[in-house]
Amino acid sequence: MKHLIDPMDLTVEEIDQLIELAGKIIENPDKYREVCKYKKLATLFFEPSTRTRLSFEAAMLDLGGNVLGFSSADSSSASKGESVADTARVIAGYADIIAMRHPKEGAPFVASQYVDIPVINAGDGGHNHPTQTLTDLLTIRQEKGRLNNLTIGFCGDLKFGRTVHSLIKALSRYEGIQYILISPEELQIPEYLKKEVFEKKGIPFRQVEKMEDVMSELDIIYMTRVQRERFFNEADYIRLKDSYILDLDKLKSAKEDLSILHPLPRVNEISVKVDDDPRACYFKQAKYGKFIRMALIMTMLGVSADED
Ligand code: NCD
Repeated sequence: MKHLIDPMDLTVEEIDQLIELAGKIIENPDKYREVCKYKKLATLFFEPSTRTRLSFEAAMLDLGGNVLGFSSADSSSASKGESVADTARVIAGYADIIAMRHPKEGAPFVASQYVDIPVINAGDGGHNHPTQTLTDLLTIRQEKGRLNNLTIGFCGDLKFGRTVHSLIKALSRYEGIQYILISPEELQIPEYLKKEVFEKKGIPFRQVEKMEDVMSELDIIYMTRVQRERFFNEADYIRLKDSYILDLDKLKSAKEDLSILHPLPRVNEISVKVDDDPRACYFKQAKYGKFIRMALIMTMLGVSADED
């Protein structure tokens, strides 16, 4: 595993191994406290982030490594006009592994072509977010005990939400997943995903506009924020931003063991009253993000604790 740009860069077996290693780290974090001693992670974030950047940094620190980097394009030489390729080449001389977030689709892939250290895509535009997908898969495994035979509702901005795109691709390799895509017509998943994932693999999916109509069927609901920064027109954003608000009333018809996921940040799409419902998993999900990134960093750097 040289770079991680697209969730499909990982085989199902590799995902299983990462989830297994993350599980071992959760059980016994002390065993992994020094495995990355003297290694450096560079976090190159050209776009804002809280969880992804800080969970990458916490992951490397908890492995005994060090971190360096920047958290906005303004504070890097990108503001002087430096190309992503040049920035990556320079950083590769200082660090052992790079995590990069960028507003332009494909930027982390470009970076990966110029360096001989592993590059991890930490979100590229509306395209992919493979480490959020690993976080989501770990959460589903922990909550449900399996990654197959599940009915999953994806709700909200399915057009611009990169976490949705990546998770749909990754799940397409597991058996018995029923996809229910809940969005306003304007925010349906992109055509390329319908063609390249669902149609190509003959996977059925349903598109609906009201979450109430399908709530009782779901094992998992994956809520998302309307991606304001990717809209061309503020008026469209304002019209669509509160399309879905999950509240206790809507949950009345849901299964007792529904798992509510959200990559966060939340704006209005889940009422804070839901936070104390045992079905709410999103803060737990954010915690799992650190552990799966620990497993990923170890694997990409080729390090292990004694008996792993
Ligand atoms: C997501 C992202 O950046 O795409 N956040 C995250 O990484 N946890 C989701 C979002 O911004 O809505």
